[in-house]
Amino acid sequence: MDLYQPSKEFAERANLRAGADYEALISDARSDPEGFWEQIAESELHWFRKWDSVLDDSEHPFYKWFVGARTNMSFNCLDRHCQTERRDRPAILWEGERGDRRELTYQQLLEAVQRFSNVLKARGYRAGDRAILYMPMVPELPVAMLACARLGIIHSVVFAGFSSEALKTRILDLDASLVVTADGGWRRGKVVPLKQAVDEALDDCPGVRDVIVYRRTRSEITMQQGRDSWWDDLEAGVPADCPAEELDSEHPLYVLYTSGTTGKPKGIVHTTGGYQLQVSMAMRWVFDIKDEDIYWCAADIGWVTGHSYIVYGPLLVGTTTVIYEGAPDYPGPDRFWSLVDRYKVNVFYTSPTAIRAFIRFGDEYPGRHDLSSLRLLGSVGEPINPSAWEWYHSVIGGGRCPIVDTWWQTETGSIMISPVPGVTALKPGSGTFPLPGISADVVDGEGRPVKPGGEGYLVVRKPWPSMFRTLWGDPERFIETYWSQMPGLYFVGDAARKDEDGYIWVLGRVDDVMNVSGHRLSTAELESTLVRHTAVAEAAVVGMPDELTGQAVIAFVTPIRGNDPTDELAAELRDWVAQQIGKFCRPKQIRFSDALPKTRSGKIMRRLLREIVTTSRVTGDITTLEDLSVINRLAAQQDEERDGD
Ligand code: WTA
Repeated sequence: MDLYQPSKEFAERANLRAGADYEALISDARSDPEGFWEQIAESELHWFRKWDSVLDDSEHPFYKWFVGARTNMSFNCLDRHCQTERRDRPAILWEGERGDRRELTYQQLLEAVQRFSNVLKARGYRAGDRAILYMPMVPELPVAMLACARLGIIHSVVFAGFSSEALKTRILDLDASLVVTADGGWRRGKVVPLKQAVDEALDDCPGVRDVIVYRRTRSEITMQQGRDSWWDDLEAGVPADCPAEELDSEHPLYVLYTSGTTGKPKGIVHTTGGYQLQVSMAMRWVFDIKDEDIYWCAADIGWVTGHSYIVYGPLLVGTTTVIYEGAPDYPGPDRFWSLVDRYKVNVFYTSPTAIRAFIRFGDEYPGRHDLSSLRLLGSVGEPINPSAWEWYHSVIGGGRCPIVDTWWQTETGSIMISPVPGVTALKPGSGTFPLPGISADVVDGEGRPVKPGGEGYLVVRKPWPSMFRTLWGDPERFIETYWSQMPGLYFVGDAARKDEDGYIWVLGRVDDVMNVSGHRLSTAELESTLVRHTAVAEAAVVGMPDELTGQAVIAFVTPIRGNDPTDELAAELRDWVAQQIGKFCRPKQIRFSDALPKTRSGKIMRRLLREIVTTSRVTGDITTLEDLSVINRLAAQQDEERDGD
């Protein structure tokens, strides 16, 4: 396999360099993990009061970090920088889907946050209250997050694509008293009717006292007297001065819901001190952030990637974060590249699913823009197929940008496994090694490390600062889901392989691993193979119960435009897989589809595909599905297959 070494030019300017910097960090973290984090915490962040102890591990698995310390995320993101020349640097460069633009310097952002904090204070909200933020991707979403953080109000951002039903579940579970929303948001040229969804949800949520509505689309909405107010009305005449609360290091910063194996979403709880430390260090170590960088994470703030790497991370280190409101292909498939060109983005972070979509659109779109400002690329959310990696590297990165394939989860809060771009030799498709201070490993069913070349479960051995602290209102489920599978270890739920050189390859969720004739097959590996075929844009593989082999491989395939979904092509793809990996994993069936069911964050919902192939209908939770019609089409196709049998 080809190794991609960092270029001399990149390595020389990197925040972490091979030799002294990097090896010293790794060995310090190994020999004295608490001392390691303590030292960085002192130099990296502002603390109103220092901690009594770095880590309290007396109540496993309910760990506490920087015990007794007082700090504030909003202060660390804003006030600190405004005491220096950074105050006049852009904090946010924002672009609306329809082309409108705004720039907020650190000083302007601080003022906006303080003003909104005063609004919340005046309505009676205090530390410990819960606020739901159901907003489009406008600067007022980070403003609301930072205002909550400033006062210690626990925020829960609900992705704007969620239905009123999903919104209601979250409001109720959190017992929130405040909802911040907008009259709408723009997505693919249409208005997303956010306020209407809030109204529907609130029919069953008597605990909500206030709905604050930001004016974005000027759509017609109804305002309920006594409950709803306009953001700008509330702000009129409010002073832009509101000191940050000195909060306990373990004060909850936010709750973010994520789907689990059951229908009920899990409320992942993150706290303040440790989270801000680790997120900040990832900006420096992984994204190699320099003072002059323009940084763009093209995720949605509704997901953890947006929390840690659009809002908190970039602002903690004082860089400029680009925020784009709308769809990547609106009005044309080159929208992202036009942004990179216009803002001269240096560091760009996106998902494999987006990369595959761009491959499908064709090389002409990136070709229309000057992408030479880019110096570093990132990927997150799922394993990246080596072929997609190569495309990203050559077509977007011009062959000159390292790619950081970052592995982490909503639960981990911050990046855990990733290349360090000036140091690590890259292998396309591998997240490479755990970051300094992170004891991630691949183990067998008994928790023993696998030998080089072996496959097993991904775990984390020791507590890490940005770890989630519990599940909101459900500590038993926290223990049961994450801490009971392997005593003493954090059970990630992903399968992984450690190769001969110690590189970690995350293979996908444990429930995405199949067993065909006693062979363990990774869906990710099969999918990656299919996607390497010149006719395939995207593929999802699931196991179907099979009397002979235990499970049989069913592949759902979206062909690249211009390739007809014929029986000949299906046969060719089955042979291709057999030839590339081995006959034992030749798919039993190839099913063509013009789209695959995905969550709104872009993850393929294999659970639904599994249900379709086993029962031909879908019963589980589909509230996170992007496009319901895909599922109906696939289920109908399944019925046809049955009728034809
Ligand atoms: C998967 C997103 C392979 C993994 C930040 C994990 C990845 C889940 C990678 C968490 C990666 C994320 N390589 N797989 N670089 N990054 N995953 O909570 O299965 O939305 O457990 O957090 O995505 O997804 P979540």
